[in-house]
Amino acid sequence: MKRLFHSVVLVLLLSLLYEHYFPNYWKVQVTYPECMPLRKRNLPLLVVVPFTKFDWNYLENNLRLYASYPPCSCNFDGTVDILFWFHRNWTEWDRNGTASNLLFESEPLQSCFRSILIDSANLEPNEDLYYYSFLKLSHISPGTCNMFYPLFKKNFIRNGYDYLFIMEPDVSPIRPFWLEAVYNETKGKEFYHKGSIAQYAKRIITQHDYHINGNALYRVGDPCFDNILETAQMEYKDAPFDGALHALRMNKRYHSWMRYYSHLFVYSDFILNFGDNPFSEQLVLNKWPNTFLVHGKRRWNISSQ
Ligand SMILES: *[C@@H]1O[C@H](CO)[C@@H](O)[C@H](O)[C@H]1NC(C)=O
Ligand SMILES: *[C@@H]1O[C@H](CO)[C@@H](O)[C@H](O)[C@H]1NC(C)=O
Ligand SMILES: *[C@@H]1O[C@H](CO)[C@@H](O)[C@H](O)[C@H]1NC(C)=O
Ligand SMILES: *[C@@H]1O[C@H](CO)[C@@H](O)[C@H](O)[C@H]1NC(C)=O
Repeated sequence: MKRLFHSVVLVLLLSLLYEHYFPNYWKVQVTYPECMPLRKRNLPLLVVVPFTKFDWNYLENNLRLYASYPPCSCNFDGTVDILFWFHRNWTEWDRNGTASNLLFESEPLQSCFRSILIDSANLEPNEDLYYYSFLKLSHISPGTCNMFYPLFKKNFIRNGYDYLFIMEPDVSPIRPFWLEAVYNETKGKEFYHKGSIAQYAKRIITQHDYHINGNALYRVGDPCFDNILETAQMEYKDAPFDGALHALRMNKRYHSWMRYYSHLFVYSDFILNFGDNPFSEQLVLNKWPNTFLVHGKRRWNISSQ
């Protein structure tokens, strides 16, 4: 009996040694990507502002802020378009054209963007939901998903731009020339997703707190990234798309695939994500010299007031 016990302990020890200390090169499986990221094509940048009729006040407020924080300097030579991407039928909502005029005639927009575009996602009410499920303890947002994933399938976007920047209406500038800063971020090495980690998590509760927020730069027209987006959508359906992209990267089942692309997901500080938590504009200015935009509804000390 004792001998059996000793043999069992010995076998356990040996297998531990085998796992951790023996060179086990023959077990390491090196594979190579099936899909190679495309090179940039030197196409313009597209800023996409997805919004609902409930966000209109934020947009008006932002247009006012752009007077004190101009998107670009007068010698900006980048080519950038802006698309206001409405959840329902814009023509129907803006019957008298007041809102369209405000967007088309905004001086800061006119002077920094090549084209100002407005388009309707024409979502049906059941495609346009966003709520917190206490049953699943997570956000369920077919609305934001239906506004996000289809952008990557639109031909005019795939063929016309290298990157798109998602800028929800609760993103606002804290420094002038913020568009130039965003544009400059696209000039270096290629990437798929570049944006902010959550700046509000006091301590990490779930791995979701490590996600790159949705208000970020994205590669467009790259079949490998399209494949990643499609897989995230298939795997996590109605979960917010930024959480889905993060969960896919962390998902063990997809590790051998996603490791080829991990370096293309980049944390950055040109934009900071405060979510629903309050933040002080002054502190961000003091502590974050490279930050131009903040995502968050509870901003203190708006200097133009
Ligand atoms: C949007 O509304 C306009 C005006 O009511 C209408 O003419 C148009 O057909 C609608 N578009 C869609 C896709 O429903
Ligand atoms: C246009 O419609 C909006 C409400 O949809 C209203 O607030 C605004 O006063 C209207 N403007 C004009 C010029 O009729
Ligand atoms: C963007 O890059 C240009 C050229 O390198 C530089 O002159 C400009 O200051 C940068 N703008 C911002 C806002 O970082
Ligand atoms: C606003 O800024 C002033 C200094 O500029 C500071 O004293 C004050 O505490 C700030 N308020 C908030 C709410 O951050």
